[in-house]
Order: sequence, then C-alpha cells, then structure tokens
Amino acid sequence: MKILANDGVSQSGIDALENAGFEVNTTTVAQEQLANYLNDNQIDVLLVRSATKVRKDIIDNCPNLKIIGRGGVGMDNIDVDYARSKGIHVINTPAASSHSVAELVFAHLLGLSRFLHQSNRDMPLEGDSNFKGLKKNYSKGTELKGKTIGVIGFGRIGQATAKVALGLGMKVLAFDPFIEKTDLELEFFDGQKLSFEIKTISKEDVLKQSDFITLHVPAQKDYVIDKAEFDTMKNGVIIANAARGGVINEVALVEAITSGKVASAALDVFEKEPKPEIQLLMNPSLSLTPHTGAATNEAQDRIGTELATQIIELLK
Ligand SMILES: NC(=O)c1ccc[n+]([C@@H]2O[C@H](COP(=O)([O-])OP(=O)(O)OC[C@H]3O[C@@H](n4cnc5c(N)ncnc54)[C@H](O)[C@@H]3O)[C@@H](O)[C@H]2O)c1
Repeated sequence: MKILANDGVSQSGIDALENAGFEVNTTTVAQEQLANYLNDNQIDVLLVRSATKVRKDIIDNCPNLKIIGRGGVGMDNIDVDYARSKGIHVINTPAASSHSVAELVFAHLLGLSRFLHQSNRDMPLEGDSNFKGLKKNYSKGTELKGKTIGVIGFGRIGQATAKVALGLGMKVLAFDPFIEKTDLELEFFDGQKLSFEIKTISKEDVLKQSDFITLHVPAQKDYVIDKAEFDTMKNGVIIANAARGGVINEVALVEAITSGKVASAALDVFEKEPKPEIQLLMNPSLSLTPHTGAATNEAQDRIGTELATQIIELLK
C-alpha cells in the first residue's frame, strides 16, 4: 500500500507506517498535478496538513484513494462529507496538539506578567545605556501562582490549559455551554496522579472573577469576547487568544487596553491572517505569535504516530 504525505509527516509517523509494510512518499506535488500523480503512482492514502486541498475533483478522479488523513484539527481543506459518501475514510488528529497550545498560552501569560514582551523589545536598544531605567519600568511583575484563570471553551485545549494552570498553583474557573463538569487528571514525572473535578460556571462569573482569561472555543458567527464582555472583566485582567481569529473583537480589545481595563493580552490568531492589523502588531501591550500554537516537534510526532495508528487499523 502506498501513502503520499503531500504536506510532510514526522519521521516517527514514517517509521511506524514503514514498519507496518506501507510505502511512504514525502514528495510535495503541486495542487494541479495531484490527481494525476495519485493515479500514476497508485496512491492508497493521501496525507495533508492545511496546504493541500482535497476537493470533489480529486475525490472523483482518484478511485484508488482509500484514506484522506489530515495532520491536525480543522478539515476545511477537505470535502469531508463528499469523500465519506464515496466510501473514503477521512481521519484527523484532534488531540495531538492540545498540550502544545496550552504551553504556548502559558509562555505568553508568564511573559506578559513579567513584561518580557516589552523588555525583549527594549533591551537590544537601551539595555546598555538605560539598564537601571528598564529595571525600574519592569519591576512590578506579578506571579501566576494563587491567581484565578478563566477558561472559556472547556474542550480538549481548554482542559489541557487548565491542567497546566493547576500545576502552577492557579485556581481554575471554566465556562462551556456544552460541558457541565469534568475530571482533570494531572500526571507527574514519578507516576503519581491527582484528579480534580472542575464544574463549569456561567460566562459572566468567569469574566467577573478571573485575573487571567484564555479562549479555547471554535470559530463562530459572533464574537465571544466583545465590548460588553470586556466591561464585565476585572480591571487589569490579562487575556490570551490562541483559538481562532474572530473570537475576540480586536478593536474592542485595543480599546480595553487603552482604557486600562485589560493590562495586556496575547494573540496567536488574528481576524486577518496572514496580514494582521498593524494596530495590533505595533501595540506594546500585546505579546504576539504567528499562529504557532500547535507548532512543536512533540505535537508533530504525535500527529504522525496517531495518523499511522489509524491507517494501520483501517487498512491492515
Ligand atoms: N493556535 C493554534 O495553533 C491552534 C491549534 C489547534 C486548535 N486551535 C483552536 O483551538 C480551539 C479549541 O480547540 P479544541 O481542540 O479544544 O476544540 P474542542 O472542540 O475540543 O473544544 C471546544 C469547546 O468550546 C466549547 N464552546 C463552543 N462554543 C462556545 C462558546 N461560545 N463559549 C464557550 N465555550 C464554547 C465547545 O462546547 C467545546 O467544548 C479551536 O478554535 C481550534 O481551531 C488553535
């Protein structure tokens, strides 16, 4: 059986598949040549990330295709229902990057609490001429331990984020209209486990009581955090959005930073990708990353091995 990993796949995934007798090809074939390539090479499984599109034309023209695999979560680049209606399995790896996103959120929150986003900008310019001035500017840091974090959207990534927060000694509040309560199990390096039951509460209570707020909801029609929600928050709150652009109203966010309601914020996702608004890029109170929440070597390894496990189960 032959597999084309058109947007790449981790070595761990290749090893697992080759050990199970699959032939793995990691050539990147241009979109317009893909259907011909799949047919000429009798490819059984097409693996993609977000770059390659798998639309009706490919599904109709490639009768040998048995599985389409998406390394990651969103499947907007695949005509999933159509492929399934033609008997093709469509698989993805929704949980593989949850912990990576959770850690990026804390990279931002810990950084914001100690002004790393600003001192990293200032030190190259003034670190030698104004060391004492910068030290004074950034001397009122805060600790996360003992503070309250509000998690909005308590699915896979929200729960992974809550576990990191518990590990840091934070109080966790959560809002999710579809989840009433959940048990979070923290695993430690020596095999010990600790279980925490978290009951979700109303969005308003989360907004009112949290020192830090982190968003982990899917893309939706309306903003989840808009002016009214900012008004409900504590003064000086710190916010992170590593969910989807469009979940937080960016104009309202900048206004809330200007008014002092929000002390600072972290954005990994933007309403306009790949060209975020310049007012965000230049705002000194924002800690910014270019949608790299899932981008760790470990997540890529998990994506590769999870895809391999599913393919082996389906085709062996
Ligand atoms: N930054 C990145 O690189 C990156 C990587 C992976 C996923 N994501 C994004 O993270 C988000 C969460 O992913 P996930 O895997 O945890 O999804 P998930 O489906 O496991 O969890 C989402 C949760 O949000 C809840 N929800 C829906 N609407 C809500 C609302 N209005 N208010 C509160 N909760 C609501 C759902 O009930 C669900 O429990 C998605 O938007 C996903 O696209 C970002």
